[in-house]
Amino acid sequence: MTFDPALITGSFAVVEPHGTKITKYFYEHLFDNNPGVRGLFARHMEEQEDRLWNALGGMVANLQDTEVVVRMLRGLGARHVGYGALPEHFPAVGASLLATLRHFAGEAWTPEIEESWTALYGVITTTMSEAMAETAAGTAGSTHSG
Ligand code: HEM
Repeated sequence: MTFDPALITGSFAVVEPHGTKITKYFYEHLFDNNPGVRGLFARHMEEQEDRLWNALGGMVANLQDTEVVVRMLRGLGARHVGYGALPEHFPAVGASLLATLRHFAGEAWTPEIEESWTALYGVITTTMSEAMAETAAGTAGSTHSG
């Protein structure tokens, strides 16, 4: 499954003006539905809210440049090992992300947009999970070509 970059950037632009309400909604949704992951996150939730959203925005802004996006995702994945994130957490985070985007996009949301975000989240999951596995195994960077 592939994603349509125009549908991703277009829907992100519709949601973005809602500002900090978006990430608040996202974490509430995530923790309400998955109380077990709450303990992984530290107390400074405001900071964390901005970071996740900025990371997502950075990805969306660079969708045309696969190399940049993959590099960002691999870096994120490698760091997430230290946060206690596990591959099995990704579906929960993805479900909350989709629910949040759907909520704030309102009537602008379509099945095609949902499909594109689902596909993009699949790429995020695969790329971050690979980097997490390599980091956990101590092999990250062994294929570094400079
Ligand atoms: C769409 C996928 C994700 C994105 C874009 C994302 C983004 C981020 C960013 C930008 C940070 C800040 C630190 C850094 O840059 O390394 C962070 C921290 C963190 N993330 Fe993620 N993340 C994602 C998925 C996940 C998943 C699946 C989990 C598992 C529960 C998770 C758990 C955490 C935790 C525990 C922290 C540290 C929070 C703290 O210091 O309190 N993330 N994430």
